[in-house]
Amino acid sequence: MTNKPIPVNTPILSGNELKYLTECIETGWISSEGPFIQKFENDFSTYIGCEQGIAVSNGTAALDVAIAALGIGSGDEVILPTFTIISPIMQVIRSGATPVLVDSCIDTWNMNIEQVAQKITSKTKAIIAVHIYGLPVDLNPLLDLCRSRNIFLIEDAAEMHGQTYFGKKVGSFGDISTFSFYPNKHITTGEGGMILTNNLDLAERCRKLRNLAFEPDKPRFVHYELGWNYRMTNLQAALGLAQLEKIEEHILKKREIGRLYQEGLKDINGFQLPLEKTKYADNIYWVFGLIAESETLKNETVSKLNAHKIGTRPFFWCMHEQPVFQKMGLFQGESYPIAEKMARCGFYLPSGLGLSSPDIDEVIKVLK
Ligand SMILES: Cc1ncc(COP(=O)(O)O)c(C=O)c1O
Repeated sequence: MTNKPIPVNTPILSGNELKYLTECIETGWISSEGPFIQKFENDFSTYIGCEQGIAVSNGTAALDVAIAALGIGSGDEVILPTFTIISPIMQVIRSGATPVLVDSCIDTWNMNIEQVAQKITSKTKAIIAVHIYGLPVDLNPLLDLCRSRNIFLIEDAAEMHGQTYFGKKVGSFGDISTFSFYPNKHITTGEGGMILTNNLDLAERCRKLRNLAFEPDKPRFVHYELGWNYRMTNLQAALGLAQLEKIEEHILKKREIGRLYQEGLKDINGFQLPLEKTKYADNIYWVFGLIAESETLKNETVSKLNAHKIGTRPFFWCMHEQPVFQKMGLFQGESYPIAEKMARCGFYLPSGLGLSSPDIDEVIKVLK
């Protein structure tokens, strides 16, 4: 039995984090008014290849603002995968729009584009492409669908910093895209998020909505609509800038973790491993997931790993099976068999940037 716990995630904070944070303390810039925020917005948006960056307090806030800024509301339909974290669907529902779900593909674990095409109606206002676990959604067919029908594409790239689609950065394809900087992400700000777009008007709307919908050109404290306080602090942006300096190193590390797991687990029976690559992308392994052939095998395996102090996390639970939405009368009688199987039988292994090779060897040994 291992003595040392192997957590499911440990971030690395080994660059200029302390230096930039100290600068915040010494200058007193600790709120959202500090100079690091705009620099982080500029540097991250440039890195991804977008003209405008709007830093916010987390990835969920980024989605809330992006969806509101596009004017999505009552009478609109928004298509998204059932297999996702709850974040992309919440503002769709709160806005009064109707969420329309699609199943996943069993090889890439991403949304099924053929089902997206089948579910488009004259009311479809947006499609949310949630890039899942390490491979991007196949974006070209989705872009064709959106362009031909005047539908907005929102990319939820919370897990995809630095991933590319046919060589171009994920998060630069949508009308608007969102990122998270939670500590299990490729770069972190503790809590944090960012919205990216090339549309200046949309960016200005997002800036207003994240800041209590203050009107830039009208008297202060007089409001014409509701927004949020979703501002990022200078302290968070300081962390983000230091992390961004290391992003390529972090991506290499994630891919090395993925390679070692693939190599060590290639002969394992009863589990589906993540796809190493598709024609448009190499896996970036935000997390290294496994799908067991049965729920029993998953439960037994997770118990065994946890007994060896090895951290795991279950896969997302489908939106159409969420008690909160069933109570609202949503998705009655709907079924998405692939996503249901992934949710029941999937889990992920320790995948954080702080993971060492001996840790990975230990996880593989226990799994086998
Ligand atoms: C796909 C996806 N979207 C949104 C989020 C929400 O980000 P946050 O935790 O920063 O609110 C996450 C978080 O992991 C995510 O994986």
